[in-house]
Amino acid sequence: MAPLQTLPRALARAASSRLPTQAVRAVSSTPALSAGASSSFESPFKGESKTTKVPDFSKYMAKAPGGKNALYSYFMVGTMGAITAAGAKSTIQEFLVNMSASADVLAMAKVEVDLSAIPEGKNVIIKWRGKPVFIRHRTQAEIDEANSVNVSSLRHPETDEQRVKQPEWLVMLGVCTHLGCVPIGEAGDFGGWFCPCHGSHYDISGRIRKGPAPLNLEIPEYEITEDNKLVVG
Ligand code: FES
Repeated sequence: MAPLQTLPRALARAASSRLPTQAVRAVSSTPALSAGASSSFESPFKGESKTTKVPDFSKYMAKAPGGKNALYSYFMVGTMGAITAAGAKSTIQEFLVNMSASADVLAMAKVEVDLSAIPEGKNVIIKWRGKPVFIRHRTQAEIDEANSVNVSSLRHPETDEQRVKQPEWLVMLGVCTHLGCVPIGEAGDFGGWFCPCHGSHYDISGRIRKGPAPLNLEIPEYEITEDNKLVVG
């Protein structure tokens, strides 16, 4: 006699052997394809283990130039171009902003001095762009002396007129043209400036008269305004 657990399985096997095949198919959970039915997809690899046949994608391609796909391409190219141009503009702008002078540097670019505060016959030294600038309020005697010099005898021939905008105001960079020391005012053999580093003597117009310096003291960019203000730079 069969054990109790295997009895239902044996009964099911016996019943299925007696049922017709179609009835078994009807109770199956997966519907079977009828004998004549076929798929609408035609595989290029059907029935061939190896093939070089390329699938036909023609129905996905644009039908004519300027069709839907071309419009999409133009849109994408245009959009990417606009994004690239915006990025390039931003990069260049950042670069230029970083390279331009900062506010404190711009503030130092020009220096304003009230000339009415400088008495006649006195020197004032100001700092401009990290360099000393000599301002001399010259007396009439000093102006006459500067004009009495024979220009052709000078190492660096310049008339006093070429070096000043107003005769009473002499404005020069206080940097020796030999090796860059700062000369001392109201000193030297010519009553102007003397550079103690190697012994250069400048006259009351700042012209080199003796010593190794090759050039006159440099005149910076400046202007004197109507309200007697000196703007250097
Ligand atoms: S640096 Fe002035 S004389 Fe040499």
